Amino acid sequence: MSFKKDFIWGAASAAYQIEGAYDEDGKGLNIWDLYSHEEGVVAHGETGDVACDHYHRYKEDVRLMKEIGIKYYRMSISWTRILPKGTGEINRKGVDFYNSLFDELITNGIEPMVTLFHWDYPYELHCKGGWLNDESSDWFEEYAAVCVKLFSDKVRYWMTINEPQVFVGLGYDNGEFAPCIKSSLPEILRMSHNILLAHGKAVRAIRAGAKREPVIGFAPTGPCITPKDNTVEEIEKARYQSFDMWPKGFVFSNSWWGDPIVLGKYPDKAFEYFGDTLRNLIKDGDMEIISSPIDFYGANIYRSSSTGTVNGYDSNEYIGCPRNSMDWVITDDALYWSAKFLYERYKVPILITENGMPCHDRVSLDGKVHDPNRIDYVTRYVKGLKKAAEEGADVMGYLYWSIMDNFEWTSGYDKRFGLIYVDYLTQERTIKDSGYWYKGVIDSNAENI
Ligand code: BG6
Repeated sequence: MSFKKDFIWGAASAAYQIEGAYDEDGKGLNIWDLYSHEEGVVAHGETGDVACDHYHRYKEDVRLMKEIGIKYYRMSISWTRILPKGTGEINRKGVDFYNSLFDELITNGIEPMVTLFHWDYPYELHCKGGWLNDESSDWFEEYAAVCVKLFSDKVRYWMTINEPQVFVGLGYDNGEFAPCIKSSLPEILRMSHNILLAHGKAVRAIRAGAKREPVIGFAPTGPCITPKDNTVEEIEKARYQSFDMWPKGFVFSNSWWGDPIVLGKYPDKAFEYFGDTLRNLIKDGDMEIISSPIDFYGANIYRSSSTGTVNGYDSNEYIGCPRNSMDWVITDDALYWSAKFLYERYKVPILITENGMPCHDRVSLDGKVHDPNRIDYVTRYVKGLKKAAEEGADVMGYLYWSIMDNFEWTSGYDKRFGLIYVDYLTQERTIKDSGYWYKGVIDSNAENI
C-alpha cells in the first residue's frame, strides 16, 4: 500500500518570509514591514526587507525547485504588492511579478498553490481597524476576487488564510507578532468572526470567478494530541483533547476555526464560555457564508503532545526527547494521529500544507550542507502519514516547510527550515542533502520510505 497515484508532493513558502523588495515597484506596506522595524520585536533586530531576495531571484529559485523535483509549490501572494492600500487601485508591477513567477513555475512543470493571506496584513487597512472593522471581510473578498480574476488562468489551488490560530493568537492576543496588540476578549471574538467571514466570502469569490475549476482550502495549525498508549481510553482522550477549547487561549484550538468553517457551527463550549457576546456577533446567514464548501483541509503540523503529559509538551513525558532548533519536540507520530483525527471529524481530504524541521545547518568544508536529522525527521513523519492513509484517512498531499531557509518571524534568520540553504550575506543558494533526498521521495511516491 502507498499514497494515491496523484498524491501532491511539494514544498511551501510565504511572501514576507522570502520575497524582500519590501518597498519596490509600487508595493504598499504591510504590518510586518512596519513592526519588524520596532525595537525588540525580531531577534537581532532583523527584518524581512530583503529576506531571500526571491523577488529578484525567483528564476534561480524555480530552477532549484525543479532540480529537487518539486511538483507543487505552495506560496503566498503579498496582498499589498497587488493592492497597495489593501483595496482599490491595482499595482501592475506586482501583478507582473506574480504572472512571471507563475509562468516560470508552469514552464518548469511545477503547479503553483496560492495562499491569499500569510500574515502580511495591509498597513492601510490596519489603520482602519483591521480585522476588528466589520467591513474587513469585504476587503478580503475584494482582494480574493482581484487575485482570482488576475491569476486563475494559471492557478487552480487556493488557500484563503494561513494559521488563524497563530496570527490572531500571537498578533492580537499575546502581542508577540505584528501588529503586537493585546486585545480584550470581545475584540478577539469579533475579529475571529470577521476572519471566518472573510474566509467564507473568499471561498465564494474564488468559486464564482475562477477560470479553471478551483481546488480550495485553508491552512490552519492547531494542537495535535496523541494517545500515550494504544488503549481505547487514551485514544478517545487524545481525540477529545485535539478538538477541545478553553476559555483562555482558545484561538489556538482546532475547533474554534475548523468547526465553523467545515461544520457550520461554533463549538458548543464557545457558547458556554462567551454566551451572548458571541451570539450577538452572528448575523443571519453568516454561518452559511463561513461554511461555504471547501475541497480540502490544510494542516500545518510540526509536533504533538501526548495525553500522558501534564502540561502539554513541556513535561516529563518528553525528558530527553530530541528537539529541533526552535526547541520543539520531535514527535514521530504527529502526522499519523492528526491526519486521522482531522479526517474523522471534518471528512474532507487532508493536505499537509506544512511540516518540516529547522536544523543547525551550515555549509561544510566540502561545500555541501549535510542535514541527516532533517531526512530522519521527514522519514519518520511521512511514515506516520502513510499509515494514516493506509488506514483510511483521505490524505491528499504533503508540502515540506520550507523550500528554502527564510525569515522565521520573530526568530529572524537563525532558524533554518529549508531544503535549500541560503547565505543571507551573498544570497548564494545550496541545495541541502535533504533536498536531493526529497527528490527520491517524490519520484517514488514515498515507496522508498
Ligand atoms: C508557518 C510559518 O505558517 O508556521 C512558519 O510561516 C512557521 O515560518 C510555522 O515555522 C510554524 O508553525 P506553528 O504551528 O508553530 O505556528
